[in-house]
Amino acid sequence: MRPVPPPKTYRVKSFGCQMNVYDGERMGELLDQQGIKPAAEGEDADLVVLNTCHIREKAAEKVYSDIGRLAKHGDPIIAVAGCVAQAEGEEIMRRAPAVSMVVGPQAYHNLPDMLDAAISGKRATDTDMPVIAKFGALPKRRKSAPSAFLTIQEGCDKFCTYCVVPYTRGAEISRPFDDLVTEARLLIDGGAREITLLGQNVSAWSGVDDVGRSVGLAGLVRALAKLDGLGRLRYMTSHPADMDDALIAAHGELPELMPFLHLPVQSGSDRVLKAMNRSHSADSYLKLLDRFRAARPDLAISGDFIVGFPGETNAEFEETLQLVDAVGYAQAYTFKYSPRPGTPAATMDDQVAGEVMDERLQRLQAAINRDQHAFNTASAGKICDVLIERKGKHDGQWLGKSPWLQSVWIDTAPGSEMALGDLVSVTLQDAGPKSLRGVMRETIPA
Ligand code: 5AD
Ligand code: SF4
Repeated sequence: MRPVPPPKTYRVKSFGCQMNVYDGERMGELLDQQGIKPAAEGEDADLVVLNTCHIREKAAEKVYSDIGRLAKHGDPIIAVAGCVAQAEGEEIMRRAPAVSMVVGPQAYHNLPDMLDAAISGKRATDTDMPVIAKFGALPKRRKSAPSAFLTIQEGCDKFCTYCVVPYTRGAEISRPFDDLVTEARLLIDGGAREITLLGQNVSAWSGVDDVGRSVGLAGLVRALAKLDGLGRLRYMTSHPADMDDALIAAHGELPELMPFLHLPVQSGSDRVLKAMNRSHSADSYLKLLDRFRAARPDLAISGDFIVGFPGETNAEFEETLQLVDAVGYAQAYTFKYSPRPGTPAATMDDQVAGEVMDERLQRLQAAINRDQHAFNTASAGKICDVLIERKGKHDGQWLGKSPWLQSVWIDTAPGSEMALGDLVSVTLQDAGPKSLRGVMRETIPA
């Protein structure tokens, strides 16, 4: 490669899960520290980081087409980061000469050094997976959105047979308690009112608290809930096998812990769950939710589903619909099974035909949409706080989230004061399939 001038502007494009959004923000902070500025919207950047996701579909193919488009348009320095980088780093270097850097999710703290190499004309790959060296090497956090992410745990030891995460993100690692309290404090000081604790399996987090006790996620949540200025706490994603009584109790006791639980189930069929290596049954999942709901009756439940896992019969898919009926989800993510190279399910017999998956996905989505709308309808008339996160399309309109993670829009009267990060008390009204209106309480006639 030929030497290039140091970049003045950068853009990080993150795909996939919230973990990638968090990683993307941290890479941005690293580049800020190098004196490189984020490119303005619509402007070509001198350096583009494609922060990729490998969990489903032909993600790798999409990366190659993005690289092709960038090379033709603006010809920036290109870095490929994230899970496709981890899984296919060497192949990317071989197939895509326009790429200068390939950096895995555990190595992106080395981005500045790799960039120096790229500027001097050398291509660099770093897909090492050292134990948590990255976090210590990242710059301190300075500014934050009203709702911020905090990665507390990375990797997964569960080895669900369809999933590539244990291979791309590696073994479960928990970040130390003290580091997390410090980072949470910085996020709050930088403007965050809400923190969502992130990890592939946050319920497996463990650590030692400030007085030397071994604690799990519940202990961490309790400590963070005490931080001055923090209004709300959330966490995702959890695995049903790791949810303990202490966490359930925390949901009943801590007003800061929002009444929302994202707990993927994947299927309602015990045979399919076993083939997925999920270690829970449909019934044990429902019983677990009952315990959470006993502690926090208004809990909103969210989930992940895969349709068309190899060998899934019509009758087994019907069991998934029955489970959906039994839970009454407030929202959920639905996916068609996608074979991931190197995972056990990719070579299983009886891969399900595309049309069959399409039809099942449609039926499942219809059931989830129905329940989401019903959940929103049942929320109408409730009084709650909304965390203001964005301005709406119209003058005086603001957008935010309810405690149950519903999108809420609020119209304010001219001259009324409202700012990002405010927690505003509203009455929920006009429930739609995907959002509700919030009416500010002081504007409601008595
Ligand atoms: N195919 C389809 N969906 C998948 N997920 C993970 N791996 C696959 C795959 N191979 C889904 C699961 C998981 C979510 C993050 O992505 O539902 O919970
Ligand atoms: Fe993947 Fe299963 Fe781990 Fe979730 S729990 S990241 S689906 S292996």
